[in-house]
Amino acid sequence: MDPSVHESYLHPISIVLMLSTTLIIWFYMSQVRKRLPPGPWHIPLIGNSWKLTADKDIRKSLRRLHKQYGDIYRLYMGPKLVIIISGYETIKEVFVKRGGEFSDRPDFLLQLIGDNQGIASSSGELWTKLRKFTLKTLRSFGFGKTSLEVKIHTEVSILLSEIEKENQNPFHIQDLVKPSVSNVINAMAFGEHFKRDDPTFAKMMRMLDESTENGGPSAVLLFFPFLRHLPGDLFRVKKVFRNVQFVEGFIGELINKHIDKFDENKIEDFIDAFLLEMKSNRDQKDFTFTNKQLIKTLSDLFVAGMDTTTTTITWAVLYLAAKPDIQERVFREVIEAVGAERLPSLQDRRNLVYTEAFIMEIQRICNVATVSLPHTCSVDTKIRDFDIPKGTPLIPDTDSVLFDPKIWGDPEEFRPERFIGEEGTLLKPDEFIPFFTGRRNCVGEPLARMELSLFIPALVQKFEILPPEGMTFCIKEMDDEIGVAHRPKPFEIRAIPRTK
Ligand code: HEM
Repeated sequence: MDPSVHESYLHPISIVLMLSTTLIIWFYMSQVRKRLPPGPWHIPLIGNSWKLTADKDIRKSLRRLHKQYGDIYRLYMGPKLVIIISGYETIKEVFVKRGGEFSDRPDFLLQLIGDNQGIASSSGELWTKLRKFTLKTLRSFGFGKTSLEVKIHTEVSILLSEIEKENQNPFHIQDLVKPSVSNVINAMAFGEHFKRDDPTFAKMMRMLDESTENGGPSAVLLFFPFLRHLPGDLFRVKKVFRNVQFVEGFIGELINKHIDKFDENKIEDFIDAFLLEMKSNRDQKDFTFTNKQLIKTLSDLFVAGMDTTTTTITWAVLYLAAKPDIQERVFREVIEAVGAERLPSLQDRRNLVYTEAFIMEIQRICNVATVSLPHTCSVDTKIRDFDIPKGTPLIPDTDSVLFDPKIWGDPEEFRPERFIGEEGTLLKPDEFIPFFTGRRNCVGEPLARMELSLFIPALVQKFEILPPEGMTFCIKEMDDEIGVAHRPKPFEIRAIPRTK
């Protein structure tokens, strides 16, 4: 045989083609052997993530896919299998009834963050211990109790005077709310209040902001990790890491200050409580309570707590400005129950039924976490008849619950009354899950609820909130491009002091 024939068969392109074909066949065979949930077709290794981004508003894509494939369906983000869990009953079945199996975090989330430390991205025993400690400690510093109210009231008063300084001119409310929300977490975590013009504090807030903004582009690397080796910073992941380093450095300095003045008979904030735990665990070699875990847990509280709460209050202000009749009803209720002099308190909540229903309806319709954080399981398992390979990210679609017409009737309508019972009492339906549900639900829920119930009525009590002169807000046009977080487009309002 002529050797040149052999040579042409072994051409590198032929080898690449043969290998790719084998890989594709292997990939498909491995999928066929498993009975995976249904889902749209995908290109091997490339996936079908565009099915989620087909609409500018991710909620529209989620609703279409849910309708087409049911409560449990699969997508491929690059080569990565991802399973979406939708509908209240199915979410309850997976994350509440079988919460013990589905409370881990998938590795892919950890890859971007850098490691598996801190409360939000850890799994297993580490997570159980950190979560138990965090809940216990935050509770002891007033989570859900009136002792924390004093600290929140301080921040409410500062916010009101900052708004007053705007002198009835148009301004961006979220810029003023964010430092207040941050300072509530600071008070519990570090026992400190930072001035708004403190340059390091201002820089930290900017860094946290940038990390959230750049979270979208850098998420591409979760599915195509090799892209991080490209020169430059096309996906802005290097920027995210630089910012994370700055925030962790800032927190590290505060920890050092606490170490210097540590007194185990004077435990005043989260850092003190953690240092005490570190001290008592030193001999047992428990790696849950280390300096690194403390830094990561504190930065988790910031990242998870600041943007979500600020965005919820920002949406509330937008709805108040867009719907003067609803604002008037909230105002009347606050004045009748609280008067105009003192700030609304947690005790007043029982008399502020419409206001509380307004806040719940804001959380339902604006659902700042359109999909909840991904969960996973640590062993191969099944949901109903479907195989769920271990480590597969399961993404809870909370929009499918909070916008389900079978639950709410008219989910597109903004109607606080849906949370008020016939006797005029506040209703709390099980399906109301803006903080998610089950073992891994939001650890900051009691704090967030307190903040919303203290900030929002105080704003309405002191100011009439209006759009800029000559403008009206059309809510339907105010959705920013929706990623994982649902935010309004930037907007300005005017705040006119109420005459007493
Ligand atoms: C309106 C405000 C808030 C909303 C809508 C919200 C919503 C959520 C959601 C949907 C999750 C994911 C649950 C899951 O993984 O299944 C979560 C987790 C978490 N949230 Fe919040 N959150 C809010 C405020 C806060 C605050 C104020 C803090 C703390 C200061 C906080 C700390 C956390 C932490 C640490 C986690 C991770 C819990 C874990 O992995 O065990 N959140 N939150």
